[in-house]
Amino acid sequence: MTQPPRVSGARRSRPLPELAVNGGTPVRSPRRRWPEWPVPAPNADRNLREVLSAGRWAISGPQGPELFERRFGRAFAAYTGSRYCVPVDHGSSALVIALESLRLDHGDVVLVPALTWIASASAALRAGLLPLLVDVDPATGCMTAEHLDTDVPARAAVVVHWANVMADVPALVKAAAARDMVVIEDAAQAHGGRWEGRGAGSMGRLGCFSFQDRKVLTGGEGGAVVTDDGALAVALEELRADSRSYRPEPAGPDELELAETAGIHGANFCMSEFNAAVLCAQIEVLEEEHDRRERNFRLLAGLLASIDGVRLLTPAPEQTRLAIYEATFIFDELPPGVTNQDIATALSAELGRGFYLTDTPLHRSPLLRPWTKPTLKPLADRFADLHRGRRYPVTDHIATHCVQTHHSALLGDATDMNDIAEAIDKVTRAIG
Ligand SMILES: Cc1ncc(COP(=O)(O)O)c(C=O)c1O
Repeated sequence: MTQPPRVSGARRSRPLPELAVNGGTPVRSPRRRWPEWPVPAPNADRNLREVLSAGRWAISGPQGPELFERRFGRAFAAYTGSRYCVPVDHGSSALVIALESLRLDHGDVVLVPALTWIASASAALRAGLLPLLVDVDPATGCMTAEHLDTDVPARAAVVVHWANVMADVPALVKAAAARDMVVIEDAAQAHGGRWEGRGAGSMGRLGCFSFQDRKVLTGGEGGAVVTDDGALAVALEELRADSRSYRPEPAGPDELELAETAGIHGANFCMSEFNAAVLCAQIEVLEEEHDRRERNFRLLAGLLASIDGVRLLTPAPEQTRLAIYEATFIFDELPPGVTNQDIATALSAELGRGFYLTDTPLHRSPLLRPWTKPTLKPLADRFADLHRGRRYPVTDHIATHCVQTHHSALLGDATDMNDIAEAIDKVTRAIG
C-alpha cells in the first residue's frame, strides 16, 4: 500500500497522532469486537428443523405442510407493499426473470448504471438483452431521470438503489413512461427502504431483491421479484419453475402444487425450502435491525458533519426509511499521492474491521466480459461496440473517492459510531 504522507503536526492546532497503519496506536482496541454478521434470528433454528423433518425440501417436492417458500413470498410482498412476490434462488435470477417477464425482443437495449454489482448488467445478457451502461448522479450514486436520455433507444431501465441511498423511482417511472420504457428496481441493497412511505421495489413495474449472505435480509443465498401486476406474477412463477405455476386450488394427494401451465418458457430458479425457512425467521427481526442501523447512521452523520474533507452518502429527504447495505464515505478531494485505497487501509487498521472500495464500475470491471462466452457472441459484440469511447465521469469520481463498510458496523452502539468518526477524523487530518 502507498502510505499516507506524513504531515507535520506544527501546522495543526492538535498534534497528529501516528496512524495505526504506520505503527501508531489504533483508535479502537483490537479487543473490542464489532457486531457479527449474519446473526440467526430466534426462529431460524426451529424453522430449519421443521423443513428437515417435513419430508419436503423443495417446492417441487411432494405434498406436505405449507411451503416456507409460499409463506416467505406472502410476508415479503407485504413487507415491501407489493401485491405479489415470487421468491427465487438468487438476486441475479430475480433480475433475469423480471427482464424475461417483459417479453422484450432479443437484443433490445436495457439501461443499467455503471455503479453497481455485475449482476445488474449480466442479467440483461442472460435474458437475451443488451445492457447499455449509463452514468449516475453525483449526490446519490444512482440513476436519475436525465440518464434515460441516451443516444440508443432503450426499452427498460434497471434502476439500482445503491449502498445506502434510494433512487428517485417515482420520477424515473414518470420519465420512462414518456419514453415507452419500463423501470425495474434493483433493490438488492435496499430491502425495507421507503420513498415517501413507498417500499423499495414496489414503485417500478417490478422490483428485484437478493438475500445473499451480506444483505440485510439473508437466507445465505436467495432472491425475489415483487410486482403489483398479476399477469407478470404468473409469468414470473413460470419463468422460475420450468414453466410451471402454483395451482389456484389445493393440490390433490398425488399432485404437485405446481401445474404445467407453460404460458412462457421457464427454467429452474426455485428457492430451496432451507433458504425460505431461514428467511421466514430473519424477516421477523429486520425492522428492529433497521431501527438500530438508522439510529446509528444519523448519529454518525452528526459526528462527521464537523469533520472536513469527508461526506457520508446521504439519502434524499424523500427517503422516509433508510436501507443501509454499506455505509459510504466520500472523500471528494484527495491530496496528491493519496488514494481512497490508502484511506480504506488506514481506517481498517484504526478500527479493526474491513473498510474497502466499492465494486469496480462496470465499464472497467474485469468481470463483465461477455465475449468470453461463445453463446453470447452476437450480443457481446454489440455490447463491445456500443461501449467504445463512452465515459462515466461521475461513476469514476465516486468509485475513486469513496470508502465503504458493511452495514453490520451500524448494528453496534454509540461508542462504535464515535470510534468510526474518531478514526475518520484522525485519518483525514493525517492525510492533510
Ligand atoms: C445491486 C445488486 N444487484 C444484484 C445482485 C445479485 O444478487 P445475488 O448475488 O443474490 O445473485 C447484487 C448482489 O450483491 C447486488 O448488489
